[in-house]
Amino acid sequence: MSGAIESILNETRLFLPPENSAACIASMEQYHALRKRFDADFSGTWGELAEQHIHWRKPFSTVLDDTDAPFFKWFADGEMNVSENCLDRHVDAGFGERTAIIWEGESGEVRQISYAALLSDVCRAANAMRELGVKKGDRVIIYMPMIPEAAVAMLACTRIGATHSVVFGAFSAHALHERIVDAGAKMIVTADGGWRRGKVHALKPSVDMALGEGSNKVEHVMVVRRGGNAVAWQEGRDVEWQQALAGQSDICEPLAVSAEHPMFILYTSGSTGSPKGIVHASGGYLLWSMLTMQWVFDFQTDSDVFWCTADIGWITGHTYSVYGPLACGGTTLMYEGVPTYPDAGRLWKICADHGVTVFYTAPTAIRALIKAGDAWPQQHDLCKLRVLGTVGEPINPEAWIWYRKMIGGERCPIVDTWWQTETGGHMISPLPFATATKPGSACLPLPGVFAEVVDAEGEPVGKGQGGLLVVSKPWPSMLRGIWGDAERYRDTYWNKFGNRYYFAGDGARTDEDGYFWIMGRVDDVLNVAGHRLGTMEIESALVSHPAVAEAAVVGRPDEIKGEAICAFVVLKSGDVESLAGELRQHVTSEIGAIAKPDEIRFTDNLPKTRSGKIMRRLLRDIAAGRDITQDISTLEDHRVIEQLQAQR
Ligand code: PRX
Repeated sequence: MSGAIESILNETRLFLPPENSAACIASMEQYHALRKRFDADFSGTWGELAEQHIHWRKPFSTVLDDTDAPFFKWFADGEMNVSENCLDRHVDAGFGERTAIIWEGESGEVRQISYAALLSDVCRAANAMRELGVKKGDRVIIYMPMIPEAAVAMLACTRIGATHSVVFGAFSAHALHERIVDAGAKMIVTADGGWRRGKVHALKPSVDMALGEGSNKVEHVMVVRRGGNAVAWQEGRDVEWQQALAGQSDICEPLAVSAEHPMFILYTSGSTGSPKGIVHASGGYLLWSMLTMQWVFDFQTDSDVFWCTADIGWITGHTYSVYGPLACGGTTLMYEGVPTYPDAGRLWKICADHGVTVFYTAPTAIRALIKAGDAWPQQHDLCKLRVLGTVGEPINPEAWIWYRKMIGGERCPIVDTWWQTETGGHMISPLPFATATKPGSACLPLPGVFAEVVDAEGEPVGKGQGGLLVVSKPWPSMLRGIWGDAERYRDTYWNKFGNRYYFAGDGARTDEDGYFWIMGRVDDVLNVAGHRLGTMEIESALVSHPAVAEAAVVGRPDEIKGEAICAFVVLKSGDVESLAGELRQHVTSEIGAIAKPDEIRFTDNLPKTRSGKIMRRLLRDIAAGRDITQDISTLEDHRVIEQLQAQR
């Protein structure tokens, strides 16, 4: 457990919400009234909300189908189209000139794209994809920088019923290959490169390498020219995005699909060596993205400029950079580059320049910017901000207080939102103008979300007790499964409690007010700088190097990143000095730079029980430099501890 979390355990401060009678949810009375509606009529309430918020081509007759639990279906016989909900209906309502996307490139260029212009781009892209053979149900991989074309590609897929899978641009060619193959993708949309830290970060070469690994069904690669870097070209397969769109009509009838139609697959890490493709359905996902935009961010579409700093390669970027804000009909901001380029004031400068009103980022970014100094935010006018959010990892109270004071001017409420790739949208979060907040707590489950903390047997634990975080009723934006692996879906999320609960993989406790305090993962998943990584994935990458006999990876507390990656490695052969760098490079090319171990410790043996199980808790203590308190009587060889500790 990190220092950050220990300080959460002692937190007692309470911050009252600012008054705002015009807010979507303006009081705890309203919050409780909504919760009561769900208590009284669970499916009726979801049904009413879905009718109100989604434009249906064919109305649904059944809200929730739980006959084949845990394979739940929502609004299944209803038909709709996601891109029509995000674009056409706003244009039809007279908002075509409203800005949908404000985009800023790393070097400072700005594009403002209206709803009408975005609709036209999406139609042309959808027509181009169709012409290249993409049909309903086909999978399209999107491997892009943070440029508007990334959002256009996503929306174009939804327009024609293709299922997209966005792969974060920092994943390596090999990791990309795994996802291309697993998804059975027919098309890839990429760019030559994008700008990061003043240089072009090339993407197309990774696509070429990934496809060079073979066994894929990719017919075409669409390439947006952005970085201007020279790229190899395979005639017949590769198509220039700009050229392909140029000849297309800007009308493309949105294809009505079932609300259960797979909208996207997003790969995330679990506790095994291979990433899992989380599948999300169209209708329920879109509904929850809209409701949470309104409830949690109090999104006012006629006046807010909403900025979620997450890359579209993560669920946060899907739900809160693209689909949530656009489905609501408001303005979303996208930024291409790194937050500290050319200096640590960049995020605050963007907020000031574009009049950002709602700002959503990760605790890691906040901690890094605290370190850069208060002078940076002080140089910029942040008076337009009215709501601040955090996501991705527990926020330590010190960072929370700084965020409130330095960025929020003590007036902006902070929403610490707990959720996951699997949940599609926020699950536990304060409501900015209703909930009294406590620094470090995600506060209360949202209306419609039935979250609990239980023990290993599934019995609710008392207030103040730690346990496992579970959700006891399905919700519309829940994952529909793991792509191609129904058994893994059951095993990972449902079997632990015999289908009674969705098991999130996090530890949590509730306090005397019923507030939730998230304590971090209880499985072999790390949260490094808000990025989710499986220890087994990194271990498999390490042992795929010819010099490595065995490896064990654990997290250790890190002041900025929350958790850092510490690898314990047993070599078959080779020289320790030269291999540390090589192994770090090897992991980078197997997975990506985000998985590169911060520290590698070489050892002759790993601490194991007599039955051969690696004692990970012991390794976590050693990595953190803590005294070993656990019972080590089952340890096979005690000398290994001395050797590992001596290396510190
Ligand atoms: O451990 C929790 C942590 O991030 C995990 C989900 O990671 P991912 O699927 O990549 O999605 C991140 C963005 C939604 C969770 O299991 N986590 C997420 N939000 C919080 C959090 N931990 C503490 N507080 C949060 N607000």
